[in-house]
Amino acid sequence: MQNRISVFGSINMDLVIYSNSSPSEGETIFGNNFETFLGGKGANQAVAAARMGSEVSFVGKVGSDLFGKILKEKLELEDIETELLQEHTGESGVAFINVIESTAQNQITVISGANSHAQSDQLSDEALSSSEIILSQLEVPLQEIEKLFSRASNKGCLRILNVAPALQLSETLFNETDIFLVNEQELSALSNKPLNIDDIGSIKECIDSLQLNDDQSIVVTLGSKGVYVHQHNKNEFFSGHKVNAVDTTGSGDCFIGAMASNMLLSKNLFESADLANKAAALSVTKKGASVSMPRRQEVIDFWS
Ligand code: RIB
Repeated sequence: MQNRISVFGSINMDLVIYSNSSPSEGETIFGNNFETFLGGKGANQAVAAARMGSEVSFVGKVGSDLFGKILKEKLELEDIETELLQEHTGESGVAFINVIESTAQNQITVISGANSHAQSDQLSDEALSSSEIILSQLEVPLQEIEKLFSRASNKGCLRILNVAPALQLSETLFNETDIFLVNEQELSALSNKPLNIDDIGSIKECIDSLQLNDDQSIVVTLGSKGVYVHQHNKNEFFSGHKVNAVDTTGSGDCFIGAMASNMLLSKNLFESADLANKAAALSVTKKGASVSMPRRQEVIDFWS
């Protein structure tokens, strides 16, 4: 199957509490509501790309527990190929998420479970050759992403890395990445420099210090403020779109999945970031991560 995105990444059961505040140490509070969703940065990005119209294959590990079964079913309901999703004997990944309703912001703690057993060789050379884009994040072992990106280097796939959560990259993984996707904290950690989100000059300084080569690009998501894109010698800032936000969980994942999906069609990073910025704004108007990902037509209709 051609024209597809392979996501090598995490899949979690998101256990989400909606509340008015977060408890301090030793304090017990009542929340307002509890929900469970398909989550994990990898799975969320896969769903976002699939809903935007791409053929997506998910490569990773679920546990042998009940969550594992449910998570696999949820991916399949999204028309995501799960042939390369394997079961690890043990527990599935889970994320404990507290969403503060007044701000729609969240606090997330992840227990990796089966995700820490994901292996790059789950994706055969043949499967790699039929992928136009390889998309990964840092919730699966970094050395496995490094192996996969290295193997992909002579296969003509575009390698997109979401540097989240913020972890130190090896020189090899850094050099084998074509497009970096970061938020402001992740850019600051990657460049080892303080960053002022309101100052484009400070964003540019952090990017310059990375000394990207001519084939590498970086996209910086700045929450509701917008997105900054750097490719070759061109930089462009896209302002955020005003919406009524109820839950920002997974909005970065929505951006990445939508951007990757559009890259298959237009190959233009700036155009794709512009569309993804709109998709991500729409995603925060609904609760949950993967379930809030919009479909391509919804994005077009909402912003026309
Ligand atoms: O980016 C949001 C995601 O981070 C959640 O779905 C959670 O599972 C964690 O991986």
